[in-house]
Amino acid sequence: MSPFLLTRTLPEDATDAALRVDVLKGLTSSPKTLPPKWFYDARGSELFEQITELPEYYPTRAEREILVGRASEIAAVTGARTLVELGSGSSEKTRYVIDALTGLHTYVPVDVSESALTQAGQALVEERPGLDVHALIADFTGGLTLPDTPGPRLVAFLGGTIGNLLPAERAAFLATVRALLAPGDALLLGTDLVKDEKVLVQAYDDAAGVTAAFNKNVLAVINRELGADFDPGDFDHVARWDPRTEWIEMRLRSRVAQTVKVPALDLVVEFAAGEEMRTEVSAKFRRDGVRAELSTAGLELAHWWTDSEERFALSLSVAR
Ligand code: AVJ
Repeated sequence: MSPFLLTRTLPEDATDAALRVDVLKGLTSSPKTLPPKWFYDARGSELFEQITELPEYYPTRAEREILVGRASEIAAVTGARTLVELGSGSSEKTRYVIDALTGLHTYVPVDVSESALTQAGQALVEERPGLDVHALIADFTGGLTLPDTPGPRLVAFLGGTIGNLLPAERAAFLATVRALLAPGDALLLGTDLVKDEKVLVQAYDDAAGVTAAFNKNVLAVINRELGADFDPGDFDHVARWDPRTEWIEMRLRSRVAQTVKVPALDLVVEFAAGEEMRTEVSAKFRRDGVRAELSTAGLELAHWWTDSEERFALSLSVAR
């Protein structure tokens, strides 16, 4: 048996169908919204990589600092033989944990992007002979069947991506994760923390305008995939902190009154001058809130590690 296996749990056209549903729903809602998962085509993924290197965008560096410092502790505490990584992307930061898990039998990266999975997976099996890599092309927000591999299991969800889910979606997601685990198995979760408003807003509205380009990229995706005629130049990037919900909201604000056509959906959409469309929420967390959300899902917070400036947290929780 090959140590690298790739399983597609999504039909080839599932992404296209989901995009249509999301865009139709979002552009006919009031206020208009678009889900953040559509930022990440090849261009959007490249812009996100650039964001992670911006001086203002601290989460990636802060999470890496924690992983570097705690990888051996994570390995010792979990003794994981199967590591499942949700939204694995390039698996770059996860390598610290993989390298520390000396008894690891199978790594299961899960992502919607086949190219990211194949690249990262192939490189890993070459460097760690004996390690099985069973990659899954799947949308983990939709429920997931894992390969039958030895426990204990560790599920990792890094990068603070849980913050891009709305509270109800978060609860459903954590329940789905809990269902993948046996009692004693663990979840390693990255969460960005509540902090000074100015620091937060700058992280999502950088001086070089990379985040603005990333935000507007969703319009280019809709133009290409659905034949729409959005002019990204007719929209301004907006990043706002909402102190009530404790999340950053990214929006696109129409500079003018305009009509946009989306031929693949037989849809014509009107934007008023100054109208704002929400494209992402990025929730920021506190320890007690994370503990409570985990507990509701049947997960007990066992470790809470932050970077030296307490900007970001990694939590390890255990299934009851
Ligand atoms: C790392 C995917 C969670 O919310 O911070 C970066 C995405 N959006 N800048 C985040 C993002 C705007 C990001 N995630």
